[in-house]
Amino acid sequence: MPWDPAQYLKFGDYRLRPAVDLLNRIDAENPSEVYDLGCGAGNVTRLLRARWPDAHITGVDSSDAMLAKAAAAAPDVVWQQADLAGWSPPGQADVIYSNAALHWLPDHPQMLVRLVRALRPGGTLAVQMPRNFQAPSHTLIAEAALAGPWRKTLQPLLRPAPVAEPAFYFDLLSPHTSTLDMWETEYLHILEGDDPVKEWTKGSWLSPLLDALQEPERSQFERRYADLVGVAYPRRPDGRTLLPFRRLFLIATI
Ligand SMILES: C[S@@+](CC[C@H](N)C(=O)[O-])C[C@H]1O[C@@H](n2cnc3c(N)ncnc32)[C@H](O)[C@@H]1O
Repeated sequence: MPWDPAQYLKFGDYRLRPAVDLLNRIDAENPSEVYDLGCGAGNVTRLLRARWPDAHITGVDSSDAMLAKAAAAAPDVVWQQADLAGWSPPGQADVIYSNAALHWLPDHPQMLVRLVRALRPGGTLAVQMPRNFQAPSHTLIAEAALAGPWRKTLQPLLRPAPVAEPAFYFDLLSPHTSTLDMWETEYLHILEGDDPVKEWTKGSWLSPLLDALQEPERSQFERRYADLVGVAYPRRPDGRTLLPFRRLFLIATI
């Protein structure tokens, strides 16, 4: 799907926080080969660089637009354009990190086991994925998509929830790892402005559906979804809006 770095980074602080929480829990002193999978605009990759100044760091992403922004901001990282479906590092990795990206990829069993096997002994796979797909911010995308003249165009684009229960990942990874640290956090994002939940999902899950429509249907669909989430996430008396957002964290060391 085409990514818009400006829209995604509109809520940069909130999107960065889980990335930092994941990074802080990785117990790797001095890794030499570090990969940031689905590195996007490189704002998280820069934190990896700050934590491990001597490491050889590679950011991997499929989006030209995201990588162009990343390369401009951090020249001391190698940027690789690649589809992560089937991707493996060229040699053994010390840290494979991925924040808010692997839920875009299918076949988690095959992919995660492949990534764990690409680690050097003692190496770490650290992954954060949203697990908010049953929340109104996401279910109302489907509701709006199925309830208008755009239904025929949008229905094929609706994806089932891409992230499984935590126990699924535990059963998958525990046979391959010496330690497995897993947790979930429900963040409470405090958003400002008009239609803030619509603006949030417009930076990710809503975007491919909008891109599939022409005007005036595009704006009509966007307004319909904004109205639905406006009811589900009402403004608080001070004018701001609370968006609870659940995320799953996995840190697997072999
Ligand atoms: C939500 S952004 C996260 C960016 C960054 N990790 C961060 O935390 O800010 C998801 C990124 O995953 C990338 N992505 C999605 N599917 C991909 C694939 N199959 N191969 C490579 N990158 C992919 C997108 O291009 C996008 O930059």
